[in-house]
Amino acid sequence: MLFKHIFFIVFVFSKNTFFKNPLEEERTIKTTTQENLISAFAGESQAHVRYLYFANIADKEGFPNVARLFKAVAYSEQIHAHKHFMNLKHLNDGFLTVAHAPFGPGNTSKALEHGIMGEEYEISEMYPAFLKIAEFQEEEGAQFTFNWALQSEKEHAKLFKRAKESVDKGNDAPFGPIYVCERCGFTAEGEVPDVCPVCNAPKDEFKEF
Ligand SMILES: [Fe+2]
Ligand SMILES: [Fe+2]
Repeated sequence: MLFKHIFFIVFVFSKNTFFKNPLEEERTIKTTTQENLISAFAGESQAHVRYLYFANIADKEGFPNVARLFKAVAYSEQIHAHKHFMNLKHLNDGFLTVAHAPFGPGNTSKALEHGIMGEEYEISEMYPAFLKIAEFQEEEGAQFTFNWALQSEKEHAKLFKRAKESVDKGNDAPFGPIYVCERCGFTAEGEVPDVCPVCNAPKDEFKEF
């Protein structure tokens, strides 16, 4: 009987010492940065779906290059959502969240206008504030993902503005291939960069649209 108890104690001790499940490890992120990650995860997830919906509108209205842009940017937002989520894996009981973003039926021009509004909010308010707080709270993982998203959104806003100028004149956007860095979501039109200017990924880590 005594042997049985000793065996059990040794087993539990060994299991907890040597076979720790990384998901069970105590992992915390300071509250405000954690809330910001959750909010950003929701925003990026919703943007991903919203842009796929906008791509359908552009396709139907005869703007295939704008549709391609929306699909590329949707992919970039998916990468951002995924990277934010990776910082939240310790929340094993799940979390509730909502995202607030411009959405609604409309034509391609209106979809681009909504896209520009969303990107500009992220560039001028959301990500700079989230990044500053993550720096102050010394949350390194969140600093990476917030900065990667911020740099990508700047390119998205520029591309949406260029596309809107063409669409408002009745033309498709004059875009060549569009490339998305699969590591950080950085988006480039025309030429694929040799090295990602945001995360240093090599050019073979870019996906072409
Ligand atoms: Fe974006
Ligand atoms: Fe990158």
